[in-house]
Amino acid sequence: MPRTIPHRWPRLPAADGAAPGLGYGADYNPDQWPRETWREDVRLMREAGVNVVSLAIFSWARIQPGPDTWDFGWLDEVMDLLHAGGIGVDLATATASPPPWLTTAHPEILPVTATGEIVSPGARQHWRPTSPVFREHALRLVTALAERYADHPALVAWHISNELGCHNIYDYSDDAARAFRTWLRHRYTTIDALNDAWGTAFWSQRYNDFDQILPPRLAASHPNPTQQLDFKRFSSDALKDHLRAERAVLRRLTPDIPVTTNFMVVGETKGMHYADWAAEVDFVSNDHYTHPGPQSLDELSFSANLVGNIAGGRPWFLMEHSTSAVNWQPVNRAKRPGELARDSLLHVAHGADAVCFFQWRQSAAGAEKYHSAMVPHAGPDSDVFRAVTRLGATLRDLAPVTGTRRRPARAAILFDWESWWASELDSHPTSRLRYRQEALDWYSAFLALGVRADVVPTGTPVDGYDLLVAPVLHVLPAALAQDLVRWTENGGHLVTTYFSGIVDENDHAWLGGYPGPLRELLGIRIEEFAPLLDDETAPLDDGGTGTLWTDLITVTDPAVEVLARYTTGHAEGRPALTRRPAGRGSAAYVSTRLGPGGLTGVLAGLLARAGVTSELPEEVRGRAELTIRAGEDADYWFLVNRGDTPVPLDGVTGRALAGGTEGAAVLAPRGVTVLRRPAAD
Ligand code: GAL
Repeated sequence: MPRTIPHRWPRLPAADGAAPGLGYGADYNPDQWPRETWREDVRLMREAGVNVVSLAIFSWARIQPGPDTWDFGWLDEVMDLLHAGGIGVDLATATASPPPWLTTAHPEILPVTATGEIVSPGARQHWRPTSPVFREHALRLVTALAERYADHPALVAWHISNELGCHNIYDYSDDAARAFRTWLRHRYTTIDALNDAWGTAFWSQRYNDFDQILPPRLAASHPNPTQQLDFKRFSSDALKDHLRAERAVLRRLTPDIPVTTNFMVVGETKGMHYADWAAEVDFVSNDHYTHPGPQSLDELSFSANLVGNIAGGRPWFLMEHSTSAVNWQPVNRAKRPGELARDSLLHVAHGADAVCFFQWRQSAAGAEKYHSAMVPHAGPDSDVFRAVTRLGATLRDLAPVTGTRRRPARAAILFDWESWWASELDSHPTSRLRYRQEALDWYSAFLALGVRADVVPTGTPVDGYDLLVAPVLHVLPAALAQDLVRWTENGGHLVTTYFSGIVDENDHAWLGGYPGPLRELLGIRIEEFAPLLDDETAPLDDGGTGTLWTDLITVTDPAVEVLARYTTGHAEGRPALTRRPAGRGSAAYVSTRLGPGGLTGVLAGLLARAGVTSELPEEVRGRAELTIRAGEDADYWFLVNRGDTPVPLDGVTGRALAGGTEGAAVLAPRGVTVLRRPAAD
């Protein structure tokens, strides 16, 4: 089913009276500071070009100091000051962190872990998504805020809660158990249908009644996998339900103000099915923090790309990222010169129309006092604030890209939340498989070859693509398999990998040989998996080396071309990489983990066979990332230096909007240039 994504963008005030352009700002927590600081904040925000802030995200205890006492005075003053300063407010519903008076009176709102421990207050997000008591108090607060600020001229958007599910995605409490049963009744209607779906004939798990069902709490051995998968689905839905409940209040009281909540499409954060949540918000927002490592920038690009496609290709809001170090990694690396702007602009390249940071002013106290901000502890006389101000100017130069859409690529990577969940469940052939890492490795290969690829969630129409990589497409319902077969026979070039096409939506194995419903299309049959131990590798006769996994493949169709074979080990002599012409397209299979380096060579061959080429001159490929935003009368080429050495841009033409000069230019280390070019079609 193609997804319908609504889109209502906040009316951002234009900085310095210019035409409305890109948004720029931060989370703003004035309640951590004395009143005297607020005027100074607004003055500095104007200096930096800030035109939007997310306000009062963690202010519940300040706004509502007791069950029946309210303190809006300070917030009124801040809202007025921001408005006078020409700064729009993305006002939080402030429900993210319940205050001590509430948890003291109602400890039954606290989440419970799988091992039965109660999560104590003292940090944040200590609430059960399914608690009726929490819901009642949260909606009371949302109502009070919406009634008070409905007509405030600073209000441009509502920011529901904060990073829903960041710390409370899985709750195993009795409230959760009750809600889980209701969710299951809705999904299965009868207990027999549930027993079939969960395969409860195994280990004497047959249920007589929905009331016997529990969340997958600590068990003596591996909990039922379909129960686990359904609990993941339910937990994502429970938070989505909370989002909808807050949104209903806001829509009723302020129908003209668009509503968002900040997603966390980043790294291994996988509990919230954001592709499924996107239709619930008026505009998609995302928070992104980089993790150090060789694929750090690729991961940023991958996430931003996926967010853009979750948003249906429409502009989205980068709600949080960091100016420099965070405080929650084992070692918190400061960003080097250029990285602040580069990271921000790479999000814009992938369709962000607003660039915001956590947070405006670095906290002096509390758990995040070592987290960077737009105004660091050192104050405005600092390299960070100067870089922040320069970025504000760059974003003003980029005003013409506002509202433009990313030009789709010819190739795509299919990103499947259910496969992410299911392929990493326990009691599998290997516990080492990382779904998102495999997808990211393919993306890195595209970047290395200088070929644009969209990262699209399942459900996105793929008819416009020439080549589709579906890595570890583990959960393959019959309908999706049929779609892929039809798409391939109509001329698409499908590439899939190990552990794809293994189970249906109930996590039941497809029988008759792997990969189930893709066997015929691929022209192969696998009787057994042969995963590798940590210290094992699988050399291939094309010079490549696999890790993690091998399959014992039999070719079943003479038309199959074996692109590489294993040279040693259990799979010695057997095909490792295959490709079968299918209708007007083809279907290729990669049976081992090759990593970004190994995949680059394999992908180059597959792209060549599919006729998909790079849009960049040879010398630029792999060294700079290209993304394109398509306006009505012009295309905007974003070129982002992927490394620390200058990249000459000879042969790339266009008028520089930011970061470069007309014609042949050099992309500085960690630099970005944006070129306006005639529209491609
Ligand atoms: C986010 C969160 C912010 C802040 C930030 C620090 O997860 O929404 O409130 O904690 O991380 O990196």
